[in-house]
Amino acid sequence: MRIILRTANIGDSQFFFDLRTLPQYEEFFYAKKPISFSQHSQWFQARIESMRHFYMVAELNEQLMGYVRFEPLCFPDVFEIGFILHPDFLGKGFASEMLVKAISLLDILIGGRKPLIFASVLKSNHASLRVLYKVGFSQVLCEDLNSFGKQLIVRPKSVLLYFRY
Ligand SMILES: CC(C)(COP(=O)(O)OP(=O)(O)OC[C@H]1O[C@@H](n2cnc3c(N)ncnc32)[C@H](O)[C@@H]1OP(=O)(O)O)[C@@H](O)C(=O)NCCC(=O)NCCS
Repeated sequence: MRIILRTANIGDSQFFFDLRTLPQYEEFFYAKKPISFSQHSQWFQARIESMRHFYMVAELNEQLMGYVRFEPLCFPDVFEIGFILHPDFLGKGFASEMLVKAISLLDILIGGRKPLIFASVLKSNHASLRVLYKVGFSQVLCEDLNSFGKQLIVRPKSVLLYFRY
């Protein structure tokens, strides 16, 4: 079985919406307001047409398995990562492979430069934290915040992590 990462296209809009609105994941997201499909569609189209955002879909045996998105922060080549796995694929260790492949694809898409990637995760989201540590993320400590720039905010009840080669 091989996980394949590809850039998202407009045909993936429903898949992103379905994963983002799954009730069992709601507790792990910061934005709690319900999102309509038309709001989502506008947002999604703008994101995938943007040259600064990188949205990707993971496929396994031609089935859509999950998504990874990289949101640009204020500095060039600095991103925040977000990711979701479809419930059919949970608990099988696929998430870390999906992230490793997504980061490799991001490297290629930004011309071989090595990005700095942040993740902001609720402390209660144990699976997500475990996956990020496995992939090589480290926790940003309070004393490191200044060296990363003032754009970084540690959200309430969250851990801020970073990945750098
Ligand atoms: C985060 C997510 C991608 C992880 O996928 P997953 O298939 O559950 O991950 P895995 O089953 O491979 O678990 C990852 C690790 O976390 C551990 N884990 C899972 N649930 C856990 C829990 N409740 N407490 C402690 N560890 C846990 C697993 O044992 C595994 O560790 P191991 O690799 O050492 O065995 C998935 O749960 C998801 O899509 N969640 C909703 C969206 C989300 O939270 N995204 C992240 C936002 S930053």
